[in-house]
Amino acid sequence: MTSDGAEHANEQARKIAEGLEYASGFGNEHSSEALPGALPQGRNSPQRAPLGLYAEQLSGSAFTEPRAHNRRTWLYRIRPSAAHPPFTRTDNGAIRTAPFTETVPDPNRLRWNPLPDPAPGTDWLAGLWTLGGNGDATQRTGMAVHLYHANAPMERVFSDADGELLIVPERGGLLLRTELGVLAARPGEVALIPRGVRFRVELLDDTARGYVCENYGRPFQLPDLGPIGANGLANPRDFRAPVAAYEDAEGEIEVVNKFCGNLWTATYHHSPLDVVAWHGNHVPYVYDLRTFNVLGTISYDHPDPSIFTVLTSPSDTPGLAGVDFVVFAPRWLVGEDTFRPPYFHRNVMSEYMGLIEGAYDAKAEGFVPGGGSLHNMMSAHGPDRETFDKASAAELKPQKVDDGLAFMFETRWPVTATAQAANADHLQRGYDDVWQGLERHFRP
Ligand SMILES: [Fe+2]
Repeated sequence: MTSDGAEHANEQARKIAEGLEYASGFGNEHSSEALPGALPQGRNSPQRAPLGLYAEQLSGSAFTEPRAHNRRTWLYRIRPSAAHPPFTRTDNGAIRTAPFTETVPDPNRLRWNPLPDPAPGTDWLAGLWTLGGNGDATQRTGMAVHLYHANAPMERVFSDADGELLIVPERGGLLLRTELGVLAARPGEVALIPRGVRFRVELLDDTARGYVCENYGRPFQLPDLGPIGANGLANPRDFRAPVAAYEDAEGEIEVVNKFCGNLWTATYHHSPLDVVAWHGNHVPYVYDLRTFNVLGTISYDHPDPSIFTVLTSPSDTPGLAGVDFVVFAPRWLVGEDTFRPPYFHRNVMSEYMGLIEGAYDAKAEGFVPGGGSLHNMMSAHGPDRETFDKASAAELKPQKVDDGLAFMFETRWPVTATAQAANADHLQRGYDDVWQGLERHFRP
């Protein structure tokens, strides 16, 4: 695509993004039809589906999982998904998948600058670059941290059999055309594409940069609230699912499928985004992080950052997440006799942090939007010297922290870096120096 062509495509994408409608709620049964009467009533699989459509079920959980975890969506489409030619292997680009064995797990604290600029004509899929991860995609455990940097709209369609994709834009908006409809996600919002759902990423701006958590494990769900009560943190109604929208397009379209760590490609003769109506709960979402209801102390001590959990992928052990998605959103600090920034910490869980905008309140410098830090299992971390000095001396009047939006993927297993991340030019050398200036203050 020429740069004029790309700019025209971005303009079209922006127009579509402005007019989008959504359905509200998380985890509930949605239903939608792009044409009146397209959605069968009273049964899922009538002898002849309305409007000459094919009925097809997309199962995101085993049939027999408990109702609270059961996920499936019924699709009514122009052609069944089964109508496709064989997939053949294609280059994986910079995408890597668990198990991660290219490097040995590193106990050091690591921090990266943003990805370098992509070559012209890099679409979202080609711009996907894996930092590391854990688990085993074929066992449906663990997660991967990816970054992306793109400057061209996708013309092909992608789906990921290995896991769901939590997309965290940091620069530039995305238009996500999915089988279930169209969503837009701009910096400050996140989008969730369920396992197996086909989609195409177009751009709302010249470039798009951000982060992706690929979750091989149980789908992200809202955390239990315990004594917090019925409301708070991420509220279900603030999640937006798309309404049905279909492409009735004939002609050659490349479809790429990520399966057990490899990319496979096939040339279809029609768009697979041809779902005219659907109902179910295995659906994409977009969520604005600024609607997160931040809870924190109104007496003393910084709460554990689990209080900022937006979404969690539970494991079989209660309270132990495969991966949590946590946001550090604007909030008031009012703790008395309290060191207010995040405390010094060693953690059995492993923490990858990214920055969407501004600054993070535990790192005065070096941690920049589009960059990221990895503090693996039991590696010691915490505020840098400047932050420590300031926070130790600050007058503890109420203070609004509203100069940044940071997030964390926190996972139960150590994150092993890919070779390209361990050897990257944009890996910061000397990150340990952040903590070297912390002086001895001990006065026995
Ligand atoms: Fe931590």
